[in-house]
Amino acid sequence: MRERIVAGNWKMNTTGAEANDLAARICSASLPRDVTVVLCPPFIWLERVGKIVQPSAVQLGAQDVAAEAWGAYTGEVSAYQVRELAHWTIIGHSERRHVFGESDATVRRKLERAAEVGLKVMLAVGETEDEYARKESQAVVSRQLETALRPSLDVREVVIAYEPVWAIGTGRPATPEYAESMAAHIRKELDRLGLPGASVPVVYGGSVTAESFAAFIEQPNLDGALVGGASLRADAFMEIIAAASHSR
Ligand code: PGA
Repeated sequence: MRERIVAGNWKMNTTGAEANDLAARICSASLPRDVTVVLCPPFIWLERVGKIVQPSAVQLGAQDVAAEAWGAYTGEVSAYQVRELAHWTIIGHSERRHVFGESDATVRRKLERAAEVGLKVMLAVGETEDEYARKESQAVVSRQLETALRPSLDVREVVIAYEPVWAIGTGRPATPEYAESMAAHIRKELDRLGLPGASVPVVYGGSVTAESFAAFIEQPNLDGALVGGASLRADAFMEIIAAASHSR
């Protein structure tokens, strides 16, 4: 049985007090044991949230790492710094790709840094609305996976987050059937790239809510969610985690 994973990407939200409160509410709840829960607060709150998750089974992730290891890169945060505080990082999130103009090659360099320091990676892939309209979704995702993962890397653990850009933060999720077909495509591509497609967790992201998630997790190729907006509300996020359990 593949691992189930629910990650919360807080993006550039939460004051310090809100971060404490959100993390404390999630970590003090009784969460299903068969779901890996990862909180990805802003870098600035990694240390404080780390202290809160530490006695629980909840894991900590960064939202990104720099493409370079060290040096004169004002405002960047190195994977070598992140590893002192967290076990995971998201790489290739669509906001990094499309708001900040990160190329596939940059995403690859970030994965290399994460692999060097032993961070687990949630690699986000997905097509834009135009690419979707042009029926290029599979080709785009294949290209993103190939440039990120070939030549092969010694990443400690990789999870693929399929996030169609047009579904992120829009309140307009993909249909579960469409996400399922893309997840199946991702597994085929992972096999082609020499990774064990059948055992790598593939999660869906894009306007996931407690209400919509149940239909996603019923799909055979989907193993969880990368949650943005709904992860800022402890109750909604915990409902998603509960729904992800095999024993639900
Ligand atoms: P959303 O964000 O759930 O707010 O759509 C998802 C994401 O960006 O990972």
